[in-house]
Amino acid sequence: MRDAYDLLVVGSANADLVIGVERRPGPGETVLGSDLSVHPGGKGGNQAVAAARLGARTALLARVGDDAHGRLLLDAQRAAGVDTAGVLCGGAPTGVALITVDPSGDNSIVVSPGANARLSPEDVRDAADLLRAARVVSAQLEIPLETVAEVVRSMAPGRRFVLNPSPPVRLPAAILAACDPLVLNEHEVRVVLGGPVGDDPREWARALLALGPRSVVITLGARGALVADGLTTELVASVPVRAVDTTGAGDAFTAALAWRLGAGAELGAAARYAARVGAAAVTGEGAQASFPTAAEVAALDARAAAEETPV
Ligand code: RIB
Repeated sequence: MRDAYDLLVVGSANADLVIGVERRPGPGETVLGSDLSVHPGGKGGNQAVAAARLGARTALLARVGDDAHGRLLLDAQRAAGVDTAGVLCGGAPTGVALITVDPSGDNSIVVSPGANARLSPEDVRDAADLLRAARVVSAQLEIPLETVAEVVRSMAPGRRFVLNPSPPVRLPAAILAACDPLVLNEHEVRVVLGGPVGDDPREWARALLALGPRSVVITLGARGALVADGLTTELVASVPVRAVDTTGAGDAFTAALAWRLGAGAELGAAARYAARVGAAAVTGEGAQASFPTAAEVAALDARAAAEETPV
């Protein structure tokens, strides 16, 4: 059973209700948008599908409602090849994310956690076999913080823990100390550090490392990603693509990173691979539908290399 999975994702599963808008409404304002589309999503579900599509042996520990959205999410996980034995059913309606996407591909998201909020520390204890069987365990914060804390307590020695603190909160020391890496964007950096930060991402990385994680990866959009582990700091370039919908791209990045780290890659190399996966993920609509296979990532590499070749 040991190492039966490259990656166990512990996290949320949401039905994403998506409307395209010319611009997002301000307070008190109504705007008209596109037809509604419903996609499988949730930061946990997205990470699991992204990893499985790349070829990782992946399992998901999550909770959905006993309803049509829950069935949609389970079908999507199974179609991607994710082991869903750890997906619990019932207790509340399936989580829902209300998402608007503007013409630049940027999104705004409001999540109703529903069943995600009922994924309990006891559920984690009951899944001890799954936790023991995974080389890397990845979590996010659309499930209760005490559930994530129980994941950290329950991890077998020698296993790697990856956390994307989204949506962000101040993190307890025990969770921070387990992260290898803590993966976060600029907004999440501000919340996790608990105050104003300067302009230099290298300073952010130093301040974050002082809180206890073994390594950090700060995603910087078009500027790439800064990776730091206390010994080295490296800026990994972004991969330019035409963005259609950025929803889930961060989840695909984190999943790819976690998988490559579990396979023995160095942090910088894993982040370079993850940047290509994240780039591919913004080129299509919805979250999971746009996640690439390993062959598609390789094709993106080949295209980038050809474009760089002088003629
Ligand atoms: O990170 C993108 C995800 O955030 C969406 O799929 C939505 O469900 C929200 O959880």
